[in-house]
Amino acid sequence: SNNNGTTSRVASPTSNVTTELADIDWDNLGFGFMSTDYMYVMKCSQGENFTKGELQRFGNIELSPSAGILNYGQGLFEGLKAYRKHDGKILLFRPEENGLRLRMGAERMCMPSPTVEQFVEAVNVTVLANKRWIPPPGKGSLYIRPLLMGSGAVLGLAPAPEYTFLIYVSPVGNYFKEGLAPINLIVETDMHRATPGGTGGVKTIGNYAAVLKAQSAAKAKGYSDVLYLDSVHKRYLEEVSSCNVFLVKGNVISTPAIKGTILPGITRKSILDVALSQGFQVEERSVSVDELLDADEVFCTGTAVVVSPVGSITYQGKRVTYGADGVGRVSQQLYSALTSLQMGISEDKMDWIVEL
Ligand code: COI
Repeated sequence: SNNNGTTSRVASPTSNVTTELADIDWDNLGFGFMSTDYMYVMKCSQGENFTKGELQRFGNIELSPSAGILNYGQGLFEGLKAYRKHDGKILLFRPEENGLRLRMGAERMCMPSPTVEQFVEAVNVTVLANKRWIPPPGKGSLYIRPLLMGSGAVLGLAPAPEYTFLIYVSPVGNYFKEGLAPINLIVETDMHRATPGGTGGVKTIGNYAAVLKAQSAAKAKGYSDVLYLDSVHKRYLEEVSSCNVFLVKGNVISTPAIKGTILPGITRKSILDVALSQGFQVEERSVSVDELLDADEVFCTGTAVVVSPVGSITYQGKRVTYGADGVGRVSQQLYSALTSLQMGISEDKMDWIVEL
């Protein structure tokens, strides 16, 4: 697709207002990086608070080779999405939840962090500055990627003396190459994503580097991604490389409980509430790998993956299939309920949507 930053004028169908849209192939968005117009940057010293940030033209940033994030992985990221509604409004989904999670992660990683208000304001400003990159309704969303990093120079192991909070955005479509079709997972039995007392429960950058080897091996064998087990018993489900996991059995929807090794997904938490409101019984508990054998459906949740149905899971050479090649009924129902809310198609009874 072309990404030369030119602009076309498109008449909005519902009004005379002229909307500017970037001139790219909106029909073929995947989950790849595309540069946009602006990024948000805010800095502070160790021991101080963030005060004021600013928009800058999107571009490379300068870091000391000795920056804390480059040497010792002192960094966190977040992910959220903006949707363009038919009436032209821009919708964000629970941005304050990302701001809160960033603060919890920053505490674990010895970093200062923006307040939730500063975080949400920075997201709003960045999204509006890059408005022409928000896909038309039904074509995808604008993925918002906040970063918090130790940007000051260190040599001995210690928290960095300076911190940078940055937000960039990129228009995206479906995360998996399967699109909305069910994905095929393999249970990883040797490598683990997280350990008790470690950082699995926060969105630190190192958690994602740690899964690349297993993920690459799985992809080379034709699987979509990897499902991790707990590192102590090697028996309980944790999560997939980039998303949380759910099992459906009858009217009961189960997902591994959050206890330090699992990323507390905002989509995960939202799906639990949506499922409850639709009359399902929901359980957050230890989910044994054996339960995969007699589950009716399995699906994954995440900001990037939304609700992704799982078509098969391979464990110790045995393959279990779900949904008879189609999307399971419950997965489909929850996907529709969540995305209708996020896109402003259904009424926001939970008060989750922020309109810009
Ligand atoms: C997200 O779902 O937003 C994430 O942060 C996962 C990432 C690996 C794409």
